[in-house]
Amino acid sequence: MRGLLTFYRRIEWLHLFSYVVIILVELLILRSIGGTPEANVIRYVVFVGVVLGSLLLIRQQIIQPIQAMQQASLHIAAGNYHERLPHYNNVELNELAQAFNQMAATIAATEQRRVELIGNVAHELRTPLTNIRATMEGLVDGVLQPDQGTFLSVQHEVSRLQRLVFQLEELSLAESGQVPLRKQRVDLRLLIREVGGRLAAQYEDKGVQLVYDFAPDLPMLQVDPDRITQVLINLLGNALQATPPEGEVHVRVEHEGSDVIVRIRDTGIGIPPEELTRIFERFYRVDKSRARSSGGYGIGLTIARHFALAHGGRLWAESQGLGHGATLILALPL
Ligand SMILES: Nc1ncnc2c1ncn2[C@@H]1O[C@H](COP(=O)(O)OP(=O)(O)OP(=O)(O)O)[C@@H](O)[C@H]1O
Ligand SMILES: [Mg+2]
Repeated sequence: MRGLLTFYRRIEWLHLFSYVVIILVELLILRSIGGTPEANVIRYVVFVGVVLGSLLLIRQQIIQPIQAMQQASLHIAAGNYHERLPHYNNVELNELAQAFNQMAATIAATEQRRVELIGNVAHELRTPLTNIRATMEGLVDGVLQPDQGTFLSVQHEVSRLQRLVFQLEELSLAESGQVPLRKQRVDLRLLIREVGGRLAAQYEDKGVQLVYDFAPDLPMLQVDPDRITQVLINLLGNALQATPPEGEVHVRVEHEGSDVIVRIRDTGIGIPPEELTRIFERFYRVDKSRARSSGGYGIGLTIARHFALAHGGRLWAESQGLGHGATLILALPL
């Protein structure tokens, strides 16, 4: 920006210099061709007026907006991310100003997300740490017995903390946009059955049925099996969490156009229409009252969507609203 300003200042001086040269040349010409002195004075006054007017115009139209841009960029560098430039009549300058505003808006949004992330992480850390501290104090004071139950509750909180750290690492990797993918030829049916197998005990305990429905002739996919497993564990885990006993989670896989589509439909609590996109935001949970010690962190879908995008795929949610179940759809390109 400083360089640009210096460049325009130079142009301003060049501009002034060229008029001085023109005035001198004109003077010489007028002297050689003659003319009444009064007429020449008027000509010079008009000419100098035009020169000064055009210089003023250049200052107003170019130099001042650039000075404003320089000031605004210094303010942004100092942390004032809400600085914006006005609309300019000059097309090029206006394009530059709008690009600048867009950049400032992106920086402001990133900063906002950073602040929110710190708030969210602090919030998630508080509950388990408070519980561990209370248990330890109870043990020291003799109020709690050093029995298995006490140690199990501490272990539970520590496991939750560990899970948070793991999820945050995954989130940071996913949001960096540099997820390393180890792609292989994968049979999605086998992968889904394997993930289902891992969750089978939890489904059985809750009395929720897991039904597979694979279209015939499904093509093999070139994906990272570990990442897709992570996505599926979260989707099937969420569906189980949302579905009451005797409910059903139906996994349909089919080939549509250039994608393989996995639809995970449940008969659970459903998702209100206004929350269908928000559930992919980090730390977002529809049911805010769900006990922090039992519920998830609201990060799983954020990571899952990033992993789907890293594969060139998509992940979205559909639901007829609360009480009508939900369908999470994962599209993976062939
Ligand atoms: N199938 C579903 N039915 C209803 N609500 C759902 C479903 N899947 C996700 N949600 C809502 O979206 C929220 C975010 O899901 P996400 O997987 O990101 O977080 P989580 O499961 O709460 O925690 P974790 O970070 O451990 O995955 C959930 O808390 C839940 O409110
Ligand atoms: Mg989840």
